[in-house]
Formats: sequence, C-alpha cells, structure tokens
Amino acid sequence: MTIDQFNFAGKKAIVRVDFNVPLDENGNVTDKTRIMGALPTLKKILADGGAVIMMSHMGKPKGKVNPKMSLSQIVKPVSEALGVAVKFAPDCANATAEAEALKPGEALLLENLRFYPEEEGKPVGVEKGTPEYDEAKKAMKKSQKEFAKKLASYADAYVMDAFGTAHRKHASTAVIDEFFDADHRMLGYLMEKEVQAVDNVLSNIKRPFVAIMGGSKVSSKIGIIENLLGKVDKLILCGGMTYTFAKAHDGEIGNSIVELDKLDVALGVEELAKKNGVELVLGSDCNATDGLDFGTMTLKPGAKIITCPANKVPAGFEGVDAGPDSQEDFRKAIKGAKTILWNGPAGVFECDAFTAGSRAIGEAIAEATAEGAFSLIGGGDSVACVNKFGLADKVSYISTGGGALLEAIEGKVLPGVAAIKGE
Ligand code: 3PG
Repeated sequence: MTIDQFNFAGKKAIVRVDFNVPLDENGNVTDKTRIMGALPTLKKILADGGAVIMMSHMGKPKGKVNPKMSLSQIVKPVSEALGVAVKFAPDCANATAEAEALKPGEALLLENLRFYPEEEGKPVGVEKGTPEYDEAKKAMKKSQKEFAKKLASYADAYVMDAFGTAHRKHASTAVIDEFFDADHRMLGYLMEKEVQAVDNVLSNIKRPFVAIMGGSKVSSKIGIIENLLGKVDKLILCGGMTYTFAKAHDGEIGNSIVELDKLDVALGVEELAKKNGVELVLGSDCNATDGLDFGTMTLKPGAKIITCPANKVPAGFEGVDAGPDSQEDFRKAIKGAKTILWNGPAGVFECDAFTAGSRAIGEAIAEATAEGAFSLIGGGDSVACVNKFGLADKVSYISTGGGALLEAIEGKVLPGVAAIKGE
C-alpha cells in the first residue's frame, strides 16, 4: 500500500514520526527539520478526513520516565507547524481513551515511547552474557509484542514515516506492522522521499563523487567510511577524528580528542584509500584553543586561539576547527564534484569562533550544487550547520536521518522499511 492510494476518511492512523529533535535548556526546539519533514504525511491524513496519532521517541531515557525527554515539550511547535491544536496522551501505553475520543481532523501525540523498555526491546537490570539474560530477553520479546499490539489497537492504519529511526528494530518501527494487514500499513511521504534521495546517490552516481565525513570518532563511522572507500572518488575526513589520524603518525595533538585504541583503524583507512585509488583529504592544519567551555560552548575569559599543523598541537591546546589550509583543501576537493554526501561537522561549530571549517565545506557544497551537483546532507550536526549558515536552500537534499542515512547509503536494508513489506 502507498500513502497516495490510501483514503484516510473516517479512519485513525497511527504514524511513527521521528520527533527526536534538539531542545535548548528551556525545552525549546532548536532545529525543526524533523517536525517539518513529517508534515506532508500528517496533513494528507487530516485532509482526507482522518485523525492522526503521532508516536515518537526522544533521546535515550533507557526505559524510564524522564521529564527532560517528555514529548509534551513539543506539543506547541508541532501544533503550530501542523495548524491543528495537538492533544497529548501522557502515557503512550495507556492512551485508549484519548485515541477513542479523536475525531476526524484531530491530532494526538503520544508520550515518549522509550519511557517503556519494550519500545527498544532490551532487557533491563540483567547483564548481557548471563543465563538470566537469555530468559529476560525471551520475556522482553513477548512484552514488546504486547506493547506494539497496544499501540496498534489505537488505530485503523499504520504509517511508518520516521526515517531517522528506520534503522532501529523497535516496537514502533518494526514490530507493530504485524498487527495491520498489508493494505493498512504503508510508508509515509518522508520515507518515500528519503529512500529516493539515497537511491539518487547510489543508483546513478555522477562522478566525481565526493564524501565528507566529520565528527569526533573514527570508530563510530568506520563502517560507512570503509563502504564509501569502495564508491567515492574523494573522501574528506574532518572534525575530531583528524587527531586520531595525526596521532597514528606520531603527531603531537595536545589535548585534542583522540581514540588511542583506534590508531590502527586510521592507518587501515589510509591503506584502503590508497588501494582503491580514492583521494583521501585530511585536515593538515587546525584552529586550536586552550579555553573552550564545552558545557556552554563559549570561550573562557582569556582563552587563546592559535592556528597550527594538526600534528603539532601544543600541550594545553586542543584542535577544535579546521585551519585555513585545510579549509582551502576541502574547498578544492569539493569543487567540480557531481555527487556529494556530507555527514558530520569539521569543528565545534556550536561555538561561533569555530565554524570556519564547517562553513567552508557548506559553502563549497552550495557552489558545486549551483553548478549541477546532487548534494545530500545528513546527520543532525551537519543539518544544523547548513541551517546556521543559511545554506539550506542551496543544497539538493537535507535528510532527517543520521545513522539511518548512513546505513541506507551502506546498502543495508532498514528494518523499518522491511517490516512494512512484511519481510
Ligand atoms: C537519531 O537521532 O539518529 C534518531 O532519532 C535515532 O535515535 P537513536 O540513535 O537514539 O536510536
């Protein structure tokens, strides 16, 4: 079933959205990309004369109620975006009354699914590897099914539109499906669009294909990095992982972030790039400081900022942004690209003093896009960069997915898509 074929008139639809949006310390949404991304599906259901029940997770509350991760905080922005006063059900697993009371054209948001451990389906309070764990896992599987069944009981149809969470095999993304017939479960517009964007990159690669991977850890991106080394012409690696590469060559990195147990991984990446004939671009210099307060993302009084080679960061300093030479190298590598993928910033862009590296990348992508490249940006931080630098309408596609996008690019089947197909 596709969402276009389905008429929601007089029906209730439960929609898995990804409203895992960033909040500031006062609970205000600082980036609405994911809320805006869900609107086409939600509006289609309402316009048909249906009622909508939205469900999502926020953060990682680990199966416990945590007011800081309550979705009640986003009722107002979702209502404003949707143009409907959204009702709220404070307990996602006990919302029968709220769901039954819903009338056509109305919308209900359920409280954070992950306040229940059943959503993720991981046993709580037992150690992995113990005999008790296996028993607990079996029991959890059973209660996860019950949890999914309960969610399903609120509605006549199920729509999976949480691309950002489609790589998770959770109750609301991959278990709930079995409680709806194949003609009453479907992907939403956002899922269709995201899958199409990935397909644009993978099925019809226009070369040169340049990927930019940033972020602090090479270990968390190694799967996608190795995979991309089989696909791209150039790979820019930037952000905190720069210093693991510098250290792998005995560089001095001061207090910069480093994964000392992953130096061989870094060297392996370099070797694979060479073997595959991929041009690997690593930051040669950096902007470093001795006084960044990571709590407030501001500079402490008297903090110094210096530019130095990425493998000669003085003691007491830490590399926090790409330096001018690196920025130039990134720009050159991106210029002329015809397919571009960007995930992960080049520095601590949240602090205004250290946006230059990420800005250089964003601007170069915008220029290449104006010259005909297809550019795909994914991951919360890169999307935040593009928005912060006013480049959102100058790139081809902004994905709402982080990990999900990378897994899709790797060619992995997303559980949230497979379940809809009954696989
Ligand atoms: C994300 O932010 O990438 C998605 O919402 C998935 O969240 P998770 O990594 O906590 O499963």
